[in-house]
Amino acid sequence: MNSLDENEGDNNKSKVLTMNKRIAVITGASSGMGQEFVRQLDICTRYMDEVWVIARREERLLELKKEMTHFDVRVIPLDICNNTDLDKLSELLAEEMPDVRLLVNAAGVGKAGRFVELSHWEIGNMINVNCKALLEMTHRVLPYMKRNSRIIQVASASAFMPQKEFSVYAASKALVLSFSRALRAEIRDMGISLTVVCPGPIKTEFLEISNGGQEQKPLKKLVTVSVEPVVAKALRDAKAGKELSIYGIPMQMVYVASKILPHGLFLK
Ligand SMILES: NC(=O)c1ccc[n+]([C@@H]2O[C@H](COP(=O)([O-])OP(=O)(O)OC[C@H]3O[C@@H](n4cnc5c(N)ncnc54)[C@H](OP(=O)(O)O)[C@@H]3O)[C@@H](O)[C@H]2O)c1
Repeated sequence: MNSLDENEGDNNKSKVLTMNKRIAVITGASSGMGQEFVRQLDICTRYMDEVWVIARREERLLELKKEMTHFDVRVIPLDICNNTDLDKLSELLAEEMPDVRLLVNAAGVGKAGRFVELSHWEIGNMINVNCKALLEMTHRVLPYMKRNSRIIQVASASAFMPQKEFSVYAASKALVLSFSRALRAEIRDMGISLTVVCPGPIKTEFLEISNGGQEQKPLKKLVTVSVEPVVAKALRDAKAGKELSIYGIPMQMVYVASKILPHGLFLK
């Protein structure tokens, strides 16, 4: 099992000196990957005082809180696309001045289909949740991060190349990947590491919603994995300071193929 406890040794000392709570902030914690990040942190970390879990469905967050045994969970029900909600989070950060050891931006939405058939709202929502909210969350939380802290941005293997009938989603994740790689270079000298997670299809609510309840295509079904190993690898890769976390041989092959083959080939 992963351990993010490498700073545990100076934990007590720094707590006494600063009295700032060591926390993790996790978006998308009401479901799928975000929820799994919280669960695996409860198993693998002993130095976090509190984990702040963010999503709109409060009841789900409260259920998750009950499961945790090694840290306190602060339930923060908010819509990350709503500026008033985000301002409340900023106020909370300013009040508590926590030492954010880990930020996981896992919230995300996707809707497959031909561009002309998507609604304005679906297009806007993908850009707002996947791009705007992720940038804003990162920007608001980063000032509370110190040396040896980590950011995990959940992108997607869709970020590697344009994708027909998933065009907006793939483009939104390409933004996450591009932005995050640049930010990683900017914050390296602050001692903060950043890992971009680029999974292929995972069995979560996301798949059902993105397909509009329709049966998955056979090839996609074949490479669909469960959430636990994807998150375990992401935590391992973040601890190792890796730039990218790509779970499974099929998605690693997609990554390599996207580097050497013309993207037009895939679009056909
Ligand atoms: N599952 C896959 O096949 C797959 C593959 C590659 C990448 N990804 C990426 O992995 C990440 C996690 O996806 P998942 O599979 O765990 O999906 P999921 O189970 O559908 O979870 C999505 C999470 O995002 C939160 N969310 C959505 N809109 C929000 C908003 N406006 N405000 C606050 N929270 C919001 C949801 O919470 P509430 O609804 O409670 O607000 C939920 O917790 C996403 O970024 C997704 O793009 C998923």
